[in-house]
Amino acid sequence: MTATSDDSAAAPVRLARIGGDGIGPEVVDAAVRIVDAVCGDRIEWVEAEMGWGIFERAGRALPEATVEILAGCAGALFGAVSSPSHAVDGYRSPIVELRRRLDLYANVRPLTSGAIEAVVVRENTEGLYAGRERWEREGEVAIAERVISRRATERIVRFACELALSRAARRRRTPRLTVVHKANVLRVSDGLFRETALDVAAGFPEIEVEEQLVDSMAYRLILEPERYDVIVAPNLYGDILSDAGAALVGGLGVVGSANCGERFCLAEPVHGSAPDIAGGGIANPVAAVSAAALLLERVSLADAAVRIDELVANCRKNGPRTPDRGGDATTEDVVAYLLAAI
Ligand code: NAI
Ligand code: MG
Repeated sequence: MTATSDDSAAAPVRLARIGGDGIGPEVVDAAVRIVDAVCGDRIEWVEAEMGWGIFERAGRALPEATVEILAGCAGALFGAVSSPSHAVDGYRSPIVELRRRLDLYANVRPLTSGAIEAVVVRENTEGLYAGRERWEREGEVAIAERVISRRATERIVRFACELALSRAARRRRTPRLTVVHKANVLRVSDGLFRETALDVAAGFPEIEVEEQLVDSMAYRLILEPERYDVIVAPNLYGDILSDAGAALVGGLGVVGSANCGERFCLAEPVHGSAPDIAGGGIANPVAAVSAAALLLERVSLADAAVRIDELVANCRKNGPRTPDRGGDATTEDVVAYLLAAI
């Protein structure tokens, strides 16, 4: 990506907006209004559909029309989808399918609150989630294989190192990379992850590199979260650390994440479709707005991303609180506060 954001003559960046189900459309709509207020005509939005609603209407949770729209976009802001709790013929999670089809190999989850400014970078394509499960001994034993490849490890660690450098440039602090593994027990697979990660990181001499066993990482993340910067981990460890971290910095209503590939970024709030409050106008839009900032950063609109992060930090401190944050404000109250601050 070489486009510069201060080239005002540049063509607008094309992004898709995918509300999905439940509160998804409400929070995406809110986030798009904030982004447009900050970016003006630097962005062109295209609407696309996926999820349970479109599955019921058209028989596909991820319509080919959506895949085609995304092919013409640099990224997408996605709300949430509802998934049936029982197996439904023909229904597959559209998010999992998109991650695979667009090779969105890096899952990025910033953990930001007060002095905490960490980010978990999770490998998103292999590990224990490679889907290699089978039965043995007539259903008495279940086996899951865990896949760690040199190639996937190299690219996730390179991604994490580049992120550490760009964050450091912004925050004027020494970049630090924490490599998470359990190589003392899983000597072969986590051994390969560890060795490959340290090799790649050695190519970034500006970065202070450390390693941490996953169990003590969970402990220290809760105990002293301020000491972390970029944390890189294989799939399962990263998944668990991301959610533990989300609880640490304010919960589902405020945390965003991004699924990144070389050419595409799908950003989303961490929460689901929240059917219990859908349509009530009280969903907290902050998670979706934070996700939008991640998306802007990935599509070379970093100045707008920084601006939105500042607005969100101020809103979380001084702004109206929706019920999930202990207040009685509406989605619209939060949007109005953010718009007024712009
Ligand atoms: P959820 O995140 O939708 O809701 C959990 C609780 O948090 C609910 O009480 C909800 O009201 C509250 N909540 C969530 N987001 C909020 C927001 N922005 N503001 C205020 N309160 C908020 O998780 P749940 O209930 O487990 O799942 C509901 C549906 O969402 C299911 O169909 C599930 O499959 C789907 N889901 C989708 C995800 C995605 O699209 N990436 C992720 C997680 C769940
Ligand atoms: Mg998760």
